[in-house]
Amino acid sequence: MVDAIVFSSVTKTVLTADGPKSLIKDVNLNFETGGIYGIIGLGGAGKSTLLKLVDHTLTPTSGTISVFGQDLGALDERGLAAVKAQISKVGVFPDFDPERTILESVAIAAGEDPEAREPDEKARAKAFRLLREVSLRSQKDTYPSQLSGGELQRAAVARAFASSPRIVLLDEVTAAQDHIESLDILRLVQQFAHESDATVLLATHEISAVKEICDHIVVLDRGLVVEEGATHAVLADPQAAQTRIFTQSASSLGKVQTLLDGHDPVVDLRPGQKLISLRYVHEDVSEPLVSLVTRKFGIDVNIMLADVQIVGKHPIGGIVAVFEGPERNIRDAITFLRSKKVRVEVLAEN
Ligand SMILES: Nc1ncnc2c1ncn2[C@@H]1O[C@H](COP(=O)(O)OP(=O)(O)OP(=O)(O)O)[C@@H](O)[C@H]1O
Ligand SMILES: [Mg+2]
Repeated sequence: MVDAIVFSSVTKTVLTADGPKSLIKDVNLNFETGGIYGIIGLGGAGKSTLLKLVDHTLTPTSGTISVFGQDLGALDERGLAAVKAQISKVGVFPDFDPERTILESVAIAAGEDPEAREPDEKARAKAFRLLREVSLRSQKDTYPSQLSGGELQRAAVARAFASSPRIVLLDEVTAAQDHIESLDILRLVQQFAHESDATVLLATHEISAVKEICDHIVVLDRGLVVEEGATHAVLADPQAAQTRIFTQSASSLGKVQTLLDGHDPVVDLRPGQKLISLRYVHEDVSEPLVSLVTRKFGIDVNIMLADVQIVGKHPIGGIVAVFEGPERNIRDAITFLRSKKVRVEVLAEN
């Protein structure tokens, strides 16, 4: 199947008061049809710029961008309009016509003719269905100013999918929402995307959003793609320093280093004890390894911190524990754990 979007050596340079500045640098990316991609990076990394290049709001300085096999740079106005008609976008604050009810706005997007002033019955029925799915059935006839930020964002998701897009670009759609609203919005995006086989690009600085619904992740740092891949694989074993900034901020395991650095009594070890971190970097750590190791090697394993999350059906994360017992037994236990593809690191010992 042809990829939904392909970036080939794409660079976007703009002229600033300080001279030329590259917002996107030599980016090569393939977005498969039907994939949900998290584009993550700190402020200014180039996430929004990347999305704008997809819907041709911006044009690359060099390189090519293809959408369903069509090079955007080679298309005439009509060709471009046809591609753009297949792309929906939602930003951090959705823009709804203040003069129209939510149902009307969604129905216009659902209609065959996006320029139509009045949506037809079929479009209204589709809009009604979508609004019901995003739990706004009772508010369908209200105006945008009467909805909360989260409700408006759910309406925006309904509107984005109303036109049956093949690509949906989401730019920080959960940035202004509380945790519960964010989850609702993300779940709806996932549901609609799966139902329609749309390709979704979710630009965000929240790793939790990526973990929730994205099957792929692209990490941007100052315009460069520093890491990409299946979400669970990248998060289980991040390679780029920039990726670790996000994974550590989301994991309680990072705390142990702070405790060690601060000589916290919690990490004061008695003779024969070792402080050990176990990280699950392999896909299926389904065995109860800790209890197994305790029994098999006759040692005590006292868990201090644990952070195991399921991402895309795979456990990622790990634990930090104090191992206690004869030196040799602990060594054998470590060898055994490594044979099970657990990454073992002795953080401190006494
Ligand atoms: N038209 C422009 N002219 C000059 N610089 C620009 C222009 N547009 C964006 N930039 C700069 O490009 C960089 C990338 O911007 P972009 O908006 O893509 O980042 P972002 O990752 O979306 O950040 P945020 O998380 O804050 O939304 C920033 O440093 C920004 O200041
Ligand atoms: Mg942005």
